[in-house]
Amino acid sequence: MAKHSNSIPFAAVSVDGDSKVPLYRQLYENLRQAILTGQLAPGTRLPSTREVAAELQLSRNTVMNAFEQLLAEGYVEGHVGSGTFVSQALPDELLTARAGVRRAFRPRRGRRSVSRRGELLATTPVRACCPAVGGVVPFRTGTPALDAFPFDVWHKITARHWRRPQRDLLGYGDPAGHRPLREAIAAYLGAARAVRCRPEQVIVVAGTQQAVDLVARVLLDPGDSVWVEDYGYLAARGALTAAEARLVPVPVDEEGIDVSAGARLCADARLAYVSPSHQYPLGVTLSLGRRLALLEWASRTGAWVVEDDYDSEFRYSGRPLAAMQGLDEEGRVIYLGTFSKVLFPSLRMGYMVVPEDMVEAFTAARALVGWCSPVIDQSIVADFIGEGHFARHIRRMRALYAERQRAVVAAARRELAGLLEVGAAAAGMHLTGWLPEGVDDAAASRAAVARGVQTQPLSAFALERHYRRGGLLLGYAAYNEREIREGVRKLGAILRDVVRGSRRKAS
Ligand SMILES: Cc1ncc(COP(=O)(O)O)c(C=O)c1O
Repeated sequence: MAKHSNSIPFAAVSVDGDSKVPLYRQLYENLRQAILTGQLAPGTRLPSTREVAAELQLSRNTVMNAFEQLLAEGYVEGHVGSGTFVSQALPDELLTARAGVRRAFRPRRGRRSVSRRGELLATTPVRACCPAVGGVVPFRTGTPALDAFPFDVWHKITARHWRRPQRDLLGYGDPAGHRPLREAIAAYLGAARAVRCRPEQVIVVAGTQQAVDLVARVLLDPGDSVWVEDYGYLAARGALTAAEARLVPVPVDEEGIDVSAGARLCADARLAYVSPSHQYPLGVTLSLGRRLALLEWASRTGAWVVEDDYDSEFRYSGRPLAAMQGLDEEGRVIYLGTFSKVLFPSLRMGYMVVPEDMVEAFTAARALVGWCSPVIDQSIVADFIGEGHFARHIRRMRALYAERQRAVVAAARRELAGLLEVGAAAAGMHLTGWLPEGVDDAAASRAAVARGVQTQPLSAFALERHYRRGGLLLGYAAYNEREIREGVRKLGAILRDVVRGSRRKAS
């Protein structure tokens, strides 16, 4: 047994008087590490607290506190004052486990190993967002008008809930969702979207993102083929990829997803993921003929159709097309809706409507991934809908977004002629602008972001196909008219340089 009193590697002990960490804690950490890495072997006698204090120029109290802590945790044994030894009984597993952890933390060969599934999760892109520009900067897509949200009403309902919270709102809720909210959603969807469902078929989830994840878990096996729109929504595609689905990119034209092309490419796909009301990102509406063709294909092959109805509330002209779910006679459609656009994204609340015979499986899966959405928030949303605020808010936002869209189109006509072709759209919260042929939209987006305008390139949403012309997405819902005018003016100056540079390169 080594028993020498200068056993502590004093030179390696670093104690910083300027640190916010107490001195005794720093000394304790140093000694603990020396024990765990074997620098101080079991049985080693530590110098007296007086010697350590003198050597490190610390107060004796500081050293005593560090020793007491090591003693309390079993790293050393003996009696402070009469000789302190590194514990013999220090379990080997502790030493090897700790040493192992320390070794693994060192980035010796890049990242630590994760499972194959973990690798997929870690490397699958979720968003094609351009890097965020700080502040309220146009033209991010997908964000509603937070400046026009009725916070006073929201606050009243929230305060009422929290003043005397009902017990059942604070416990573990029903994984399928809070019953009054499911009833409110079913009634709303029936009236506004011609969705045919009973409240039992509504499952409350943490947004569309979780819904797609659940769809993949419940309906797909690894390697199953899935039609996805090309260009299409990256976050949904990410969830499907991470579930090891084989994505089949199906082209989109002015009538929406090309169903016969899908059938040619992969007739026996298990599922089709579509955004019929307002295709993301191109903004087209799936025609009635294509809807019927899609349902007919699903019925013939036994495939599922996932209908992402993310912003259907915002239609400004023409007759709103009812949800495809309402046309489905065979229970092949899984309908997805979200409160991210009509309320706000950080609420993380959405819903799915599943066929009756799928309710049990989806509810069980929902329980497995997080149990349920926060029950008190569900109750707040249920009251917000039930008291008429939801319908009023949607009506107000529909008018506001129509104005904001008009502001973008008018400003674009003034500032972007020959640079970005921006036409009015019948629905949604963003516009698609087309660049002149030959101009790289990714480069244009990078240039815009660098100069403080957020706009995503259309090509970022491509899987296989690329349109002849590049484009930029202009989200407008979240910005007032002044911000829109200023954003378009800035974008004009940026695109003038980009287009000029691109032509110079081509000539
Ligand atoms: C196509 C599409 N679906 C759904 C959503 C909503 O996703 P979530 O409900 O997860 O916020 C968005 C939001 O940007 C979207 O663009």
